[in-house]
Amino acid sequence: MNEEQKKAQINKSSTGEKDYSQYFETTYTPPSLKQAKKRGKENIEIHYDFDVPEDMQQIGKDKKFLIRTYGCQMNEHDSENMAGILMRMGFESTAAVEEADVILINTCAIRENAENKVFGEIGHLKALKQENPGLVIGVCGCMSQEESVVNRILQKHQQIDLIFGTHNIHRLPELLKNAIFGKEMVVEVWSKEGDIIENMPRARKGKIKGWVNIMYGCDKFCTYCIVPYTRGKERSRRPEDIIEEVRHLARNGYQEITLLGQNVNAYGKDLADIDYGLGDLMDEIRKIDIPRVRFTTSHPRDFDDHLIEVLAKGGNLVEHIHLPVQSGNNDILKLMARKYTRESYVELANKIKKAIPNASFTTDIIVGFPNETEEQFEDTMTLVKEMEYDSAFTYIYSPRDGTPAAKMEDNVPHEVKKKRLARLNALVNELSAEKNKEYPGKTVEVLVEGESKKDPEVLSGRTRTNRLVNFRAPKSTIGTVIYVKITEAKTWSLNGEVVEPAEVNI
Ligand code: 5AD
Ligand code: SF4
Repeated sequence: MNEEQKKAQINKSSTGEKDYSQYFETTYTPPSLKQAKKRGKENIEIHYDFDVPEDMQQIGKDKKFLIRTYGCQMNEHDSENMAGILMRMGFESTAAVEEADVILINTCAIRENAENKVFGEIGHLKALKQENPGLVIGVCGCMSQEESVVNRILQKHQQIDLIFGTHNIHRLPELLKNAIFGKEMVVEVWSKEGDIIENMPRARKGKIKGWVNIMYGCDKFCTYCIVPYTRGKERSRRPEDIIEEVRHLARNGYQEITLLGQNVNAYGKDLADIDYGLGDLMDEIRKIDIPRVRFTTSHPRDFDDHLIEVLAKGGNLVEHIHLPVQSGNNDILKLMARKYTRESYVELANKIKKAIPNASFTTDIIVGFPNETEEQFEDTMTLVKEMEYDSAFTYIYSPRDGTPAAKMEDNVPHEVKKKRLARLNALVNELSAEKNKEYPGKTVEVLVEGESKKDPEVLSGRTRTNRLVNFRAPKSTIGTVIYVKITEAKTWSLNGEVVEPAEVNI
């Protein structure tokens, strides 16, 4: 069969469940978003016995790997796990593509432009593969959970050797072995979430700040969002496993941790044997000797009073709340299935402000959701003014196949969406600049992260509320918490000079 005939073979199936067996001399079940939507009652098992089999621990000897990561912190953290597994297989990491023997592209499916970037990169790698046929290229992350993406790769991107899903990371040793030694493209994507694998090796990217996963998946099903399909149902890790990981990071000198989950406020809801939530977890983590604890990302609906009470205790629990609002208009919020109103969101924020007076808020906003009128967009603008966000991640709505919103008519013209985004960003910047103007003369606590981007002689770090601060200080302060008196405010950052702790007043 020639290439054209093979393609025809694929295309002629009308069932949607295409059989690629003749094409790739292998069979596989394509991922299915429909399947991924199902939420069953089956128990999630936790495994503590992960290891790279002995016969696979030398596979990477004298070989190098590179992981390109797109998207959110969850993906960054997954890449740390994959790097850990690859190192356990004997691979070394490299930052140079030409040096790599294995390249993994950890993808993001949240918006179309994220997907386009990935396909751009896959295209570029074709030439590299031609020069170096021994190179193994893998695609993983959220895009690989989408049937349409897998099919597109199968049909058009023969340079890819391996596709695996977000629930298959622990299978990497086996899959990679098959990709290296087999002739066929290896595809393994489970649509249903798997169990929790506790002790995967992990190669963390930094030594100052660390991510700690507290739960996986999302059951919220906001109508625009692909995440509940690509990441499966909500599964919480056991508190004792999380606490042990935080203690381990503290012992190893980490200064800040971020508790991670697609919807961290739902933490514990699925733990059948204990009545335990994010508030309880944070109350225990608060007692661990680590200077800063953050969490992301929250859903306003699950932000309960106990959590607020615990956060108000302060200490290492920083007063920064990322609280995605998405829209300031009730009709749009309803279409998004966010299940709160503008009023209840503001009420929650006020409750938090009352308990934590110096709390700073950041948010996520989508503009141009189906049917969004100019007036409805104005509601978002007035909400942003009312909330005085420190900053906001703002996005143009992007229809995602398989989600309920994708069935709505995407009827806001792209030009209008772009204009709304520009107006919103101008407002967010203005508010951020205004807020920064309050800082000169004040002293803030800063975790020193390293050299600043623009000048290696200048160091930079972040306040408890995540504001960027630049200052001159000895390099020995990197990785410590110091105090900086702010001398100048810019739109996105603050400049200052180091002072003694006694002068702190913020
Ligand atoms: N289009 C645009 N933005 C989206 N987000 C999620 N799905 C979409 C989409 N289809 C945004 C939301 C979410 C953030 C992580 O990404 O604002 O909070
Ligand atoms: Fe997506 Fe909504 Fe879940 Fe966030 S809470 S991951 S926006 S479905």
